[in-house]
Amino acid sequence: MEKNIIKFPENFLWGGATAANQCEGAYLEDGKGLSVSDFVTGGSRDIPRKFCTEIKEEYFYPSHMAVDHYHHFKEDVALFGEMGFKCYRLSINWARIFPNGDDEEPNEAGLKYYDDLFDELHKYGIEPLVTLSHYEMPWKLTEKYNGFQSRKTIDCFVKYAVTCFKRYKDKVKYWLTFNEINVTTQTSYGTYISAGVLSETDRAKKEPFPIDEMYVSSQMTYEALHHQFVASALAVQEGLKINPDFLIGCMICRIGLYPHTPNPKDVLACQKKEHLTHDLCGDVMVRGEYPSFAYSYFREIGINTDFITEEDKKILREGTVNFYTFSYYMSNCVTVDPTVEKVGGNMVGGARNPYLRMSEWGWQTDPDGLRYVLNLIHDRYPHIPLMVVENGLGGNDQADEAGNIHDEARIEYLREHITCLKQAIGDGVPLIGYTSWGPLDLVSVSTGEMHKRYGYIFVERYDDGTGDFARHRKDSFAWYQKVIASNGEDLL
Ligand code: BG6
Repeated sequence: MEKNIIKFPENFLWGGATAANQCEGAYLEDGKGLSVSDFVTGGSRDIPRKFCTEIKEEYFYPSHMAVDHYHHFKEDVALFGEMGFKCYRLSINWARIFPNGDDEEPNEAGLKYYDDLFDELHKYGIEPLVTLSHYEMPWKLTEKYNGFQSRKTIDCFVKYAVTCFKRYKDKVKYWLTFNEINVTTQTSYGTYISAGVLSETDRAKKEPFPIDEMYVSSQMTYEALHHQFVASALAVQEGLKINPDFLIGCMICRIGLYPHTPNPKDVLACQKKEHLTHDLCGDVMVRGEYPSFAYSYFREIGINTDFITEEDKKILREGTVNFYTFSYYMSNCVTVDPTVEKVGGNMVGGARNPYLRMSEWGWQTDPDGLRYVLNLIHDRYPHIPLMVVENGLGGNDQADEAGNIHDEARIEYLREHITCLKQAIGDGVPLIGYTSWGPLDLVSVSTGEMHKRYGYIFVERYDDGTGDFARHRKDSFAWYQKVIASNGEDLL
C-alpha cells in the first residue's frame, strides 16, 4: 500500500558527496596553500592518525594526493553523469582560493579550477551543492590566528564566501557554510579540523602525535564555535544579497540517539546529549539564537559567555539558514551505566544496541534511525526543507578474479536507507535530496585509510600510497543508476 502511494518528489536531488581534502590531491598545485588537513597522517581503525605542525618526509599524508580528483575531474563527472546524478555535493578547498587565508586578492587559478568543474557538471545536467569549508581551512589561519579562536578569521571566511558567491552566482544555487559544524565540539581533533584551533601545548609538539591525544579546553572550543556561527550568519546575509535565490544551509553531523533502557536517568541523559550534540548548532543556525539549555550547560561547565555579544546576537538572528542538511551513518544508545558494552561511531561513540548489525568499522547500521532523525528535525524546524547530504557504508571492497567488485553489502545498506527516506517523506518530511557519501572511493576522515571505501566507483589507490588512480565501476554503480532513473522506485 505504502509503496504505491509514497513517491519521491519530482526534481529530487539524487547524487553523491565529497570533500576536497579527501579526493582532490594536488595539495600544492596552481597556487594552493596548505590546509589544516594536509598536516594529518594516515592511520587505521586501530592506529590513530597523527598530527604535528610540521609536515615530515617519513610520514604519509593521504590528502596530498588523495584520489587525484583534481586531475581526473572530467572522468569522474562523466561517471556521475552516467549514473544519472542530479546533484553533486563538493567542497571548495578554501586554500586554493586564499592560499594564506588573509590574502588581499584571491588566487585566479583556484577560482578557475572550480569554474571548470561547475561547467563540467552543468554539461551533464548536474546541480552543484557547494560546502565552503569541509575540514580544509587554510593552515596559515591556524598558524597566525589560531583559526576561529580569533575574530579575524570571521572576516577571512566572509571575504572568501563573498568571493565564491560572486564568482559562481550563476553556476551554483545550493551552498553550505561549514561541514558538520557540531564536530567542532565533539573532540579536540574535531575542533582542529573544523575550526583550525590548537592548544599551545599541541602547537609546541615537534613530532607527530596521535590525534586522540589532542586537547583543547571547552572555553576555547565554544568560543571558536561561536565565531563559526557568526561567520556563517554573515555569509548567509551577504550571499542572499548577491543572489536572493540561493539556498544556504547548515550541515550537522547527526547520529540517531536512543536511551539504552527506559530508566528515566537514561532518557534524560539521551535528551541532554541530543540537545548538546545536535540541537545547539541547529537552533543557532536555523532559529538564530542559542537555546536556553546551551546557557545552562555553559554555566554547568564554567564557560564564560562574554564572547556572545549583543552585536553577535543580532547577526545570528539576521543570518539564519534557509535549509537544513545533515550527515547520517548510524545510531548509538545513551546510558548512565558505565558498565555496558561500548561501540564506536562517526566522531562519537555510545552504548551497543543489540537490535542492530555493525559495519566492518564498528558503526551500527540503523536505517529506521534515519527516518526517526528526519522526523525529529522536521518537528523542530517545520518551516524549512531538509536534505541528507551524507550517508553510506565504508567497506573493504575487493575485486574478484575477473576484476568485478560485488559490493552487495553497500547496496543493501543504501536500499534500506533509501526505503526509510521514502517512509519519512510519507510521514510528511519535506526532503529535497539525497547525496550519498563518497561516490568515488576517497580518503577516510577518521582513519586516513583508503580501504574504507564508500564508492560506486573503485579507485586504484591504496593505503601504502601505491595505485595508478584508475577508476572502475562496482556493482553498486548500475544499481544506483537504476535507483535514480526510476526516481527511487526501483530499489532491487
Ligand atoms: C562525515 C564527514 O563525518 O563522515 C566526511 O563529513 C567523512 O568527511 C564521513 O568522510 C565518513 O567518515 P569516515 O571516517 O568513514 O571517512
